[in-house]
Amino acid sequence: MTWNDRYRKAIASGEKVFSEEPASSVVSALDTVAANIAPQDHQPCAVDVGAGEGRHSRELVRRGYKVVALEPSEAAVEHANNNIIDETTDHEIRWIAADMRDFKPTQKVDLALLSFMHQREFSILTQLDHLDSWLNPGGWLVFVGHSRAQLGLDVGGPKEPERLWDPEELGTALVNMGYHVERAENVTREDIEKVEHAHHKDASIDAVVVAQKPVAR
Ligand SMILES: C[S@@+](CC[C@H](N)C(=O)[O-])C[C@H]1O[C@@H](n2cnc3c(N)ncnc32)[C@H](O)[C@@H]1O
Repeated sequence: MTWNDRYRKAIASGEKVFSEEPASSVVSALDTVAANIAPQDHQPCAVDVGAGEGRHSRELVRRGYKVVALEPSEAAVEHANNNIIDETTDHEIRWIAADMRDFKPTQKVDLALLSFMHQREFSILTQLDHLDSWLNPGGWLVFVGHSRAQLGLDVGGPKEPERLWDPEELGTALVNMGYHVERAENVTREDIEKVEHAHHKDASIDAVVVAQKPVAR
């Protein structure tokens, strides 16, 4: 089933694919960014890549970001545009229906968040230069996804090793691009990610990578 079909089905039955709460590992990764930035003279902008139902876009708004929620599922974007879930955050989110590979922000942004992006068609490693081109100097790339360390465990997420993330591999690629890698590690997540995965018996292991683009190259 495609993501668009999954969201369409959930919308039709009045259900959600994801919890409304942000994943604890995303909260912790964004805390790491917050602990490493000086007060800014402008409102920071973020892109939530593969925003889904927007739970992490809302978390970014709560943290003071102007947010572009990038999501190729037209069903998800149309639903988000027509249904306010949270009055305090949803007006601050601009939804764009697009594939990240074709997207270019009109103005450079301060942060790009990729949470649980495990596509079959491409590896996130092939997108690093593209993501870098979106960022202001000193901007942040934040990756949180199912770790390759989950292989063999009874957890949700993809089972193919090439779709899972290795924080060390991702961190090394970013270091080679001149980024300062603040975190590149596996984190055990006890919160239940998706209602549909509540029956899994092991805790998920997330790859968390938080890296800052150099201020000058
Ligand atoms: C596992 S979901 C995660 C959703 C959200 N990040 C979250 O954690 O709640 C992966 C999302 O990536 C989106 N996606 C798939 N291919 C994409 C692409 N090429 N560019 C941007 N997003 C994509 C899917 O439609 C889906 O919403």
